[in-house]
Amino acid sequence: MEAIFKKEKEVFIPFFNRLPVVFEKGKGCWLFDYNGKRYLDFVAGIACVSIGYSHPTFVEKVTEQLKKLVHVSNLYYTTPQLDLAEKLREITGLSKFFFCNSGTEAVEGALKIARKVTGKKKFIALENSFHGRTMGALSVTWKEKFRKPFEPLISPVEFCKFNDINDLEKKVDKETAAIIVEPIQGESGVYEVSNGFIEVIFEKREELGFLVLFDEVQTGFGRTGKWFAKDHFGVQPDIITMAKAMASGIPIGGIGVKDDIAERIELSEHGSTFGGNPLACSASLATIEILEKENLVENAEKVGYYLKKRLEELGFNPRGKGLMLGFDLEGEYKNKAVEIVKKSLEKGLILNYTSENTIRLVPPLILKKEEVDYAFEILKSIFS
Ligand SMILES: Cc1ncc(COP(=O)(O)O)c(C=O)c1O
Repeated sequence: MEAIFKKEKEVFIPFFNRLPVVFEKGKGCWLFDYNGKRYLDFVAGIACVSIGYSHPTFVEKVTEQLKKLVHVSNLYYTTPQLDLAEKLREITGLSKFFFCNSGTEAVEGALKIARKVTGKKKFIALENSFHGRTMGALSVTWKEKFRKPFEPLISPVEFCKFNDINDLEKKVDKETAAIIVEPIQGESGVYEVSNGFIEVIFEKREELGFLVLFDEVQTGFGRTGKWFAKDHFGVQPDIITMAKAMASGIPIGGIGVKDDIAERIELSEHGSTFGGNPLACSASLATIEILEKENLVENAEKVGYYLKKRLEELGFNPRGKGLMLGFDLEGEYKNKAVEIVKKSLEKGLILNYTSENTIRLVPPLILKKEEVDYAFEILKSIFS
């Protein structure tokens, strides 16, 4: 281990503050380090590996595609890309799709589309939002620490207070191209946008003609107990961005739009070399097939509810939906999230902190009640 830590210092740009573990392989909800120690994973590559590690159907389908064709370029037609777009039509209700390689790229493309089709420049984002690290996505990301060193970013961008309808009404206007919203904020610690706030966004959209962009990079593909978090609100955004769980860890991102938006986009206005290549698209199709066949969206709701109850038994006040949960630490544990995450790692449970006081849980959607009970015993031993 020491040799690996030393090597990283020598060869890697120090962007990540890593935990002291080196994983070798995974199976289901479990990861294994090089010493063969197993860990129950409540992070899933940050809400990515929803179908669990080494799923046999996934391995089979991706291997099959790997042997046939990995990449050819978007200069040509490929069928996995079109099959995926067709499938996404069914599960999102949106009409046309574009594929890229990550969440931040999806947001980047969506912002470009919003400016192009509205002819307007201004974006509204929410306080505490996270939309990615590239220049456009960073411009609508709240945290100053992420943004400040890289200014000037794109403008104008205004941040609206979270769930504050008065502030929203003050900030949206005729110059607004789009409002970008995570229906449940993930990176800031799992905070749900209120129904009332969403309702007013859509009312204002009618009045002022901006686009509503839901960033479902973290909430998409069943994570919250519905295919997309928009379904909890019964609304259809103009644009949805997606990534993370879309292909169970094979890099892919996507933008979905309504028909009238697609009609106003012109040739060569956006693109990607790797985006939507046959390998990534077949991995995404396999992921969706498994989510459907194994009823994992329903499982996220059911087991998520059970996990919430067990966390309440431990005295926490968890928030979130499905298997996207967060809770704050209190009393003697206040501001000790880093310590808790390290302790639980030692005990064989992988947790994630989003701040020094907030723990986030985004396990694979195949999680079983028995595994929740296993985690409960570890948590009990830490918080007692
Ligand atoms: C809501 C949301 N949007 C965008 C991103 C950026 O995605 P990526 O890290 O794949 O670029 C994230 C990543 O955490 C996210 O949670």
